[in-house]
Amino acid sequence: SPPAIIAPSILSADFAELGKACSGTMGQGADWLHVDIMDGHFVPNMTFGAPVVTKIRPHVDRPSSAYGRGTFDCHMMIAEPKRWVRDFKKAGCDLYCFHYEAAFSTAAEEPSATSTEKTSPKELIRFIHGLGMQAGIAIKPKTSVDVLWEILENPVKEEVPDMVLIMTVEPGFGGQSFMASELPKVTALRIKYPDLHIEVDGGLSEKTIDQAADAGANVIVAGSAVFGAADPGEVIKKLREAVES
Ligand code: DX5
Ligand code: ZN
Repeated sequence: SPPAIIAPSILSADFAELGKACSGTMGQGADWLHVDIMDGHFVPNMTFGAPVVTKIRPHVDRPSSAYGRGTFDCHMMIAEPKRWVRDFKKAGCDLYCFHYEAAFSTAAEEPSATSTEKTSPKELIRFIHGLGMQAGIAIKPKTSVDVLWEILENPVKEEVPDMVLIMTVEPGFGGQSFMASELPKVTALRIKYPDLHIEVDGGLSEKTIDQAADAGANVIVAGSAVFGAADPGEVIKKLREAVES
């Protein structure tokens, strides 16, 4: 399997001190930063957009290679993922992870433009790669893992995602309970794809990490478990050890 990657979700950080929270969690041993973007349409909550990402980006060193330390892992819980790819590239996003459920929208490539043409996951992945970012594809709990096979089996490399995100809560809020019911998706993916980055997001903590790691996840998002801890560095270390063991 690929290496353990711990990605604290800054959704649970103090938004008034976001820059400090980002550099702080990196100093405590985080590998990536998980940046939750919510638009109030795809999910019933809003966070922030590219202008905020632009402002926090200088607080964390850029990764020296793909998937490296300091990767900005942007989880796009938005209805029109194609529309914001360029803006997020400019803001310093390294990995643009869109939701499968939103990937067929008719959104244009530019915020101001209009389009009636439908896009698709593979087209979106090609577009993200063309701008020099890694591409991730996320699925919600109610979405079957079976939608991913065709996307992963595509022989055209530029159209294949670098990471799959299996949501282990309904997206929208931090601090929800882990859904172990989603782990068979991780196992099925890991069996077929030993080298794929498989991320889990939602309810990950010292209590749930062993199940997720056993299923085969290697990229671990944790919001409340890290930012709510008395010693976040210790939590990051424990999550890493559970994946590596
Ligand atoms: C939920 C977000 C998560 C969230 C996880 O919609 O995608 O990244 O921050 O928070 P915890 O780890 O508290 O469940
Ligand atoms: Zn997330």
